[in-house]
Amino acid sequence: WIASVAGLAIAYLLGSMPTGYWAGRLLKGIDLREHGSRSTGATNVLRILGPWPALVVLLVDVLKGAGAILFARWFYPSLTPPTALDPQGWVPWAVGLAGLAVLLGHSRSIWLNFTGGKSAATGLGLLLAMSWPVGLGAAAVFGVALAVVRIVSLGSMLAALAAVALISVLEQPLPYRLLVIAGGAYVLLRHRANIQRLLAGTEPRLGKASRKPK
Ligand code: G3P
Repeated sequence: WIASVAGLAIAYLLGSMPTGYWAGRLLKGIDLREHGSRSTGATNVLRILGPWPALVVLLVDVLKGAGAILFARWFYPSLTPPTALDPQGWVPWAVGLAGLAVLLGHSRSIWLNFTGGKSAATGLGLLLAMSWPVGLGAAAVFGVALAVVRIVSLGSMLAALAAVALISVLEQPLPYRLLVIAGGAYVLLRHRANIQRLLAGTEPRLGKASRKPK
């Protein structure tokens, strides 16, 4: 079981890699958590540092989510070879937990005093690696929402809801379904401040001058 916990710790540490924070420090010598929405996610990087750093951060954050799932899928079956008595039905559960660990790591990074991003990009990577139709569906909903309303947070939340809806109707192992439901709820929870701004009509649209949220 020590190896099982170590696998989760590796997924958490992978998620904890503070890509956006590093971009702020490297490119402008700033702490991104003191600017814009205070998030270290790609949207705030776009707002504060511009499109190219945002694209790199987005890609790396997506890869973190996908990497954790791919790692868990390789690591856990390798712990003990499957036998007739132990057909490793627990592996999807371990993979699901590794998915939650990487989401948690991204938004509660051990290197940033347990702050970070909102786990949307990392969640997309996780979905693409776990069930690409769900990942593509969520990405499509995000793209359409962004094109129509030009509000990234709304797109992220609609994509999280779409992922939950898709995984519920597609044939997927129960642990994956539970992971997407828990992960989707977590991403919504991380957007609390955005929801308040959306309700107040102060959430900025892409391309418009940025606000100074608290
Ligand atoms: O993925 C984060 C995005 O949905 C919102 O980011 O910086 O506008 O709070 P932000």
